[in-house]
Amino acid sequence: MKAIIVSKYGKSDVIKVVERDIPEIGESDVLIRIMASSVSPVDIAFRTGKPFVSRLFTGFNKPKYEIPGDIIAGIVEKKGTEVTQFDIGDRVFGHAGLSFGAQGQYIALNVKEAIVKMPDEMSFEMAAAFAYSAMTAMAFLEEHYEITSDTKVLINGASGAIGTFAIQFAKQKGAHVTAVCSGGNAELVMSIGADAVIDYAKEDFTTMDQSFDFIFDAVGKSNFGKSKQVLKRGGIYLSTVPAFSLMLRTALKMKSQNKTGKFVATGLKKPEQKREDLKKLANMFLDKQLSAVIDREYTMDEIIEAHDHVEHGHKRGNIILKMV
Ligand SMILES: NC(=O)c1ccc[n+]([C@@H]2O[C@H](COP(=O)([O-])OP(=O)(O)OC[C@H]3O[C@@H](n4cnc5c(N)ncnc54)[C@H](OP(=O)(O)O)[C@@H]3O)[C@@H](O)[C@H]2O)c1
Repeated sequence: MKAIIVSKYGKSDVIKVVERDIPEIGESDVLIRIMASSVSPVDIAFRTGKPFVSRLFTGFNKPKYEIPGDIIAGIVEKKGTEVTQFDIGDRVFGHAGLSFGAQGQYIALNVKEAIVKMPDEMSFEMAAAFAYSAMTAMAFLEEHYEITSDTKVLINGASGAIGTFAIQFAKQKGAHVTAVCSGGNAELVMSIGADAVIDYAKEDFTTMDQSFDFIFDAVGKSNFGKSKQVLKRGGIYLSTVPAFSLMLRTALKMKSQNKTGKFVATGLKKPEQKREDLKKLANMFLDKQLSAVIDREYTMDEIIEAHDHVEHGHKRGNIILKMV
């Protein structure tokens, strides 16, 4: 099989595409032919080893798992003798877990991991986007604050993969959504439901004359200290990015003026919780409540271009890796 490998930390030219044996399966495993995966800032962290804290999961001196990638959308091609949950030919999506390995054409995965059947109506590309960014956005928007039609939500980085799903989750709950992105992406965020747009190049949302109940920094470009100036009392600020001060605040459950600031790590959820999330997302897709914004698709041979595009920091929605 063809596989993407990262054997040392560095710039995008450390990534290689090589041939590897198709993995053997154990009695509780399925062999999945991966059709689509995603490339996101998480893959950039895996490849660069930055921020340093990410090496807790990826290895201190060099990547401990050679094949990167957590996001899977594919077809079950073989199953172990103990497997009853899946049949050969099932289309599945989900996460490889902390051993990674999703950026190879095949993966052997224990059925205890976070994989579920995907809807027939869903393409593999859509499933990969859902498994990455809808999963992440859902955890932030549904598990930390009860958003209602009275909630004023601000989403920073609203045009990215997580941001575009975050807008849709907040609108599902009837909230008023202010999206922060560059002017060029204003039309995109309005088209998926944002009520107001702030161009961060022209205006700093932390100094504006309005306040919010829920601030979600999907790209970690703001900080709690400044953002709390526009957070209402009792409000919450959440970030996807592990800044030291925010991690400390999260660990100590600190509040300032009854305002909460938190870093959340969605990847650390248990596989059984993730499976429930994936099933819920599949239903939301079928009910047409959510759809993925897809920026570009790359093949495995174009992986370096994909990394360079993601690392630039201005993708619009999701980047899909087609496993050909
Ligand atoms: N904590 C967790 O559990 C978890 C899980 C998964 C991912 N993550 C992290 O979440 C972050 C976001 O991931 P993603 O895939 O959604 O990112 P992304 O798609 O790469 O974000 C790109 C978007 O960020 C916007 N942006 C760039 N600079 C900005 C600024 N200064 N202010 C506001 N927006 C700006 C860009 O908009 P313009 O082009 O308009 O500038 C672009 O559309 C990453 O750091 C990733 O590592 C965390």
